[in-house]
Amino acid sequence: MTVQSLKIAVIGGGSSYTPELIEGILLRQDLLPVREICLTDIEAGKEKLEVITALTQRMVAKAKADIVVSQTLDRRQAIQGADFVMTQFRVGGLKARQRDEAIPLKYDRVGQETTGAGGFAKALRTIPVVLDICRDIEELAPNAWMLNFTNPAGLVTEAIHKYSKVKTIGLCNVPVSMQMMASEMLDCEPSALQMKYAGLNHLVWVTSAYLNGKEVTKELLGKVGDGANFSMKNIFEEPWDPDFLNALGVIPCPYHRYYYQTEAMLAEEKLSFMEKGSRATQVMETEAALFELYKQASLDSKPKELEERGGAYYSDASLNLVDAIYNNRNDIHVVNVANAGVISALPDDAVIECSAVIGNSGATPIAVDPLPHFVESLITRVKSYEMLTVEAAVHGDKEKALLALATHPLVGDIQIAKSLLNDLLEQNKDYLPQFVSLQGTLD
Ligand code: G6P
Repeated sequence: MTVQSLKIAVIGGGSSYTPELIEGILLRQDLLPVREICLTDIEAGKEKLEVITALTQRMVAKAKADIVVSQTLDRRQAIQGADFVMTQFRVGGLKARQRDEAIPLKYDRVGQETTGAGGFAKALRTIPVVLDICRDIEELAPNAWMLNFTNPAGLVTEAIHKYSKVKTIGLCNVPVSMQMMASEMLDCEPSALQMKYAGLNHLVWVTSAYLNGKEVTKELLGKVGDGANFSMKNIFEEPWDPDFLNALGVIPCPYHRYYYQTEAMLAEEKLSFMEKGSRATQVMETEAALFELYKQASLDSKPKELEERGGAYYSDASLNLVDAIYNNRNDIHVVNVANAGVISALPDDAVIECSAVIGNSGATPIAVDPLPHFVESLITRVKSYEMLTVEAAVHGDKEKALLALATHPLVGDIQIAKSLLNDLLEQNKDYLPQFVSLQGTLD
């Protein structure tokens, strides 16, 4: 990139996570000539946007950074002339997430924000909005990079790749968090540990880990099996069975618990739902407290309380990527990008999550050794679900939606898939205009 000053547009700027992003920008002032940060949100998020903009201005002033911070409800104005567009929004807000997590439980299925039927509903709401944003970027900032953090991040990135020309990379904080937790286990610097990743977003595996030239994959599996911290704030840390981990031979991500320990995770979700509501309910409380803090004129940095959320290291994941692209670093990050042969069982254009070399022309995925068949078969099945979900979301296609749900390993049964789908469509109808013309339920 040759531009001397950068404009960053943040869509969903009113998110409680924004201070995390701003901290990342301010820590990299020597590396990135960011001169403008434009935060944008929708009318319903106006109040939060104002609070976040004021806090951002205080953070920028404290850092004595030469950055203009602006806010607008006009998304096109934010995108106009942007070099990087960060997307981090939630269609329907936390209330919609609450429904995504609660509805599947009625059918004895995992209720999770991004995984299974909950993530499916979120994808149906989100994909049309993301593609609208892409149309704006194609028109107003065709050279901009879109870094998508909006969940379900892999699925949303798949839709962007398939249905737009925008230069995009999807990202998630899980791989970087795994790196940090693994380096804690081995008591080493995170940068000393080389881990190769392959899989899908929230279904990613570390295929090998090396420390100072020595393979430590088995050692790490042993430590995870012994109960070392290896989860995210939003995922119940159901202990892993050491024999199972040993048999796997590759390191699963925290979200794999939903696939391999389904009964225990479901039981915990149900109990926790009865006692304190789903994760969305807890996040609502954390968020209300966070915004009370954010409003205080004396606050001029990211408060520690934000660590209660699951998005740890979000700022590193996203700003290291901006740095790698802008400064053409050609260093390695874990991103969501077109497969290009890395996972042989998937089409070349399917979006996967893997280690990739990042420079000013984007992400080049790094080949991994062939994955064991039991890994590949799970990935292939979930990718089929994702591809069907993208088609259902874009075309408002109920049959594809049914097939998608029935294909997902955490839903499966066709009658359950049908009832669940009808319920999800009905309860999300305000956010699913693409399905509105098709009245009635599938019987
Ligand atoms: C994890 C995931 C993110 C997700 C977050 C939820 O870190 O990687 O994709 O958004 O957790 O955290 P929350 O605090 O909202 O439950």
